[in-house]
Amino acid sequence: MNEPIPASIFPAPEAVPEAWRLAVPVDQRSWLCGGELRTWTGLTQPVLSPICHPGPSGAERAVIGSYPLMSAAESLQVLEAASRAWDQGRGPWPTMPVEERIHHVAAFSARMQEQRGEIVKRLMWEIGKNQVDAEKEFDRTIEYIRDTISALKELDRLSSRFVIEEGVIGQIRRSPLGVVLCMGPFNYPLNETFTTLIPALIMGNPVIFKPPKLGVLLFEPLLAAFRDCFPPGVINTIYGDGATIITPLMESGRIDVLAFIGTSRVADILRRAHPKPHRLRCVLGLDAKNPAIILKDADLDLAVKECVLGALSFNGQRCTALKMIWVHAEVCDLFLEKLSAAVAALKCGMPWEPGVQITPLPEEGKTGRLYEYIRDAEERGARVINPGGGSVQGTCMTPAILYPVSAGMRLYTEEQFGPLIPVASFSEIGEPLHYISESSYGQQVSLFGNDAKVLAGLIDPLVNQLCRVNLNSQCQRGPDSFPFTGRKDSAEGTLSVSDALRVFTIRALVAAKENSANQGIIREIVTERTSRFLSTDFIF
Ligand code: G3H
Repeated sequence: MNEPIPASIFPAPEAVPEAWRLAVPVDQRSWLCGGELRTWTGLTQPVLSPICHPGPSGAERAVIGSYPLMSAAESLQVLEAASRAWDQGRGPWPTMPVEERIHHVAAFSARMQEQRGEIVKRLMWEIGKNQVDAEKEFDRTIEYIRDTISALKELDRLSSRFVIEEGVIGQIRRSPLGVVLCMGPFNYPLNETFTTLIPALIMGNPVIFKPPKLGVLLFEPLLAAFRDCFPPGVINTIYGDGATIITPLMESGRIDVLAFIGTSRVADILRRAHPKPHRLRCVLGLDAKNPAIILKDADLDLAVKECVLGALSFNGQRCTALKMIWVHAEVCDLFLEKLSAAVAALKCGMPWEPGVQITPLPEEGKTGRLYEYIRDAEERGARVINPGGGSVQGTCMTPAILYPVSAGMRLYTEEQFGPLIPVASFSEIGEPLHYISESSYGQQVSLFGNDAKVLAGLIDPLVNQLCRVNLNSQCQRGPDSFPFTGRKDSAEGTLSVSDALRVFTIRALVAAKENSANQGIIREIVTERTSRFLSTDFIF
């Protein structure tokens, strides 16, 4: 049974284990512009941790530092720096041989690894991610960089040749697009940001990077490495309120690619601010409301295990989280009983405590908004079926299972992004299928069952509604070599190690009629290695 969360869950500062104390305050004042680390002297934004300490009037969020609150003037300075690095595609970075760009990124990755401990600790304090998941986020990002380098080598090898078609000789390569604005989400501030930033950079695009609102300080240990490993202006950072600093960038019309992972509402505002929409490429990872469907022959223990992971890893704050569970009426009572028991066994605590799964929530006012979802569902006939579910202490909330959730309740359609598990039962499979086709989102689904024929009959319609059907397992992004995307309001563009290299580039080619004069010119260029594009150099 879920016990209400005791006030003692939050430690006094001196009770935080030595190894996990942050050297506070982390007052970040550096920002990177045009290859220089500049010092900010203007307004700042305090950073409140989701981790609280006991205070005179209850749990109080720890103040762990601050970061610059910049203005449009600084936005325009980073824009100028990135545009100079691009220099209409003639800058040293966009014209650099691929092999050299790879060396720069590899050098950065080596410097980044030196900062693992500090970045992991800041992830835990800034967004409340538990130690195991914070370490996983860091290590997965390093692997992503390594795999990106391998994928680029492979891509370049395939492009290091000529093709001859219909009497025309051609060489086709992928060329960078221009200045990229990268903005990642708070739930995977490092990993998801770098799954766009690294491919954008390595393909020759200069980048302006704005960290998410939550999860800013963890990037500070990387600023010197960015400065040292890349030519001036290739990577620039900007901090502050999105409306103030991002709007002028978009309105300038000089952003060529918007790589944004967040809500479709914000993505729409940003895109609309750009005066030349056809020149703007958007790479977007947006909202999702992934359902699970539990068929009557499903292995319920397995389904419960995967649904708990799917709905509650990092407190349900994943775009791929299971956010609505449909269970066949014949097994619904048993499923709910097992689900309640599994949820009651989860440990709630501070991110450094061994085995902890439920941790403090970083968004301001989040427990209040989650409570509103519960109240709305209860008013419309659902109830919290796990005793103690939904109890709140400061920034912590125990997971709540709500049943039966139905059309008209906010939880039926809205993305809760927190530890709430809405459950509905069905007698006809048409009910969850209708739910999926009516949904605004189209990322993934989890199907639990054992009859191959029944599953096959569901896979075919579902792959035309969503982008990934997970059999007997939770929804997830990985492995990172698999395509990650969504239909409807869930995404634009596809990300994976190799797809990301494509989305930040466009195919360009050199072509010539096949005659001896042209053959001679091409031969001379290639032998004397006077072009970086027209080249048969092979990267080992
Ligand atoms: O928040 C969305 C993430 O891309 C989810 O990644 O499925 O590996 O947790 P994950």
